[in-house]
Amino acid sequence: MADVTLLINGLQVTVPQGSTILDAARQLGVFIPTLCHDPELTSVGSCRMCVVDVKGARSLVISCATAAAEGMVVETESPAVMEARKTIIELLLANHPMDCLTCGKNGDCRLQDYAYMYGVKDGGVFQGAVHQYPLEENNPFITRDMNKCILCGKCIRACAEIQGNNVVDFTYRGFNTKVAPAMDTALDESSCVFCGNCVAVCPTGALQEKALRAKARSWEVKKVNTTCPYCGTGCSFDLNVKDGKVVGVTSCDGDVNGRALCIKGRFGFGFIHHQDRLTTPLIKKNGQFVEAGWDEALSLVAEKLGSLRDNSGPDSIGILSSARCTNEENYLLSKFARAVIGTNNIDHCARL
Ligand code: FES
Repeated sequence: MADVTLLINGLQVTVPQGSTILDAARQLGVFIPTLCHDPELTSVGSCRMCVVDVKGARSLVISCATAAAEGMVVETESPAVMEARKTIIELLLANHPMDCLTCGKNGDCRLQDYAYMYGVKDGGVFQGAVHQYPLEENNPFITRDMNKCILCGKCIRACAEIQGNNVVDFTYRGFNTKVAPAMDTALDESSCVFCGNCVAVCPTGALQEKALRAKARSWEVKKVNTTCPYCGTGCSFDLNVKDGKVVGVTSCDGDVNGRALCIKGRFGFGFIHHQDRLTTPLIKKNGQFVEAGWDEALSLVAEKLGSLRDNSGPDSIGILSSARCTNEENYLLSKFARAVIGTNNIDHCARL
């Protein structure tokens, strides 16, 4: 496919035909704010936050859904562009709760960032009706505060395009437009599978992980990238760690999964610090399990396996591995069975 060359803020850039102005700007490292755009989702061009000035165009154009063309001359921060973006934020804030101090997304909210960036102090510029939707908290995983929804539609597209579930869509019309499941039911009454991929793309506090609410501010958590332990797919995510404890899971840009996770990966981390979790080995003594140190436990296992192999032969031992181990751990277990014990009796729980 042919390339096109254009000028953005006086800088020349060449991109493949079909690229948007936003793609070209990002290739140059030029910042353009976006609210409804997401590189993993189809572009709908609904928020207008990404407007730019294109020489010769009749009006400002949205950069996320306008194709870059040969010879285009683009300004990303002209006075008209800056004024338009400021007005868009003022309009959004006119019907947006201003409880940033106690909002769980404080410090991690794109609307807040842009309000700061464009010097919009509050929603008082435009006065009008405001929504008073009740907070939806009647499910264990996701808190929905539709008063904070800016109707960017990213959650709708994430549900349809990443999860393939089509649970939520725009309902009602005009000022009453709202994102909701069919018949405006609660999530737990819908066919939602609680993957939380809608939460991962929400640019405001409209959708939040319930586990993280009031547990940690965004700047208090250390994000530790890791691999999900629940199956062999190998999805990556970030553990949110505060004071040495895992308080939540958020998406990263994983090689295998992008930002998509399933309900277990995103919300099933309660076992990590659960009081019933075994944290030391147990050895059965006189019919009772007794806590033991790792050295003692490993020595006992080695001694028993060694004596079984020596007295009854290696094939008297069988090893069952797990899909919840990493590939590396399963590889090591296979080596241990074949090279150390000397048996091919190794199998995997996924075949059960
Ligand atoms: Fe381009 Fe919303 S980001 S229209």
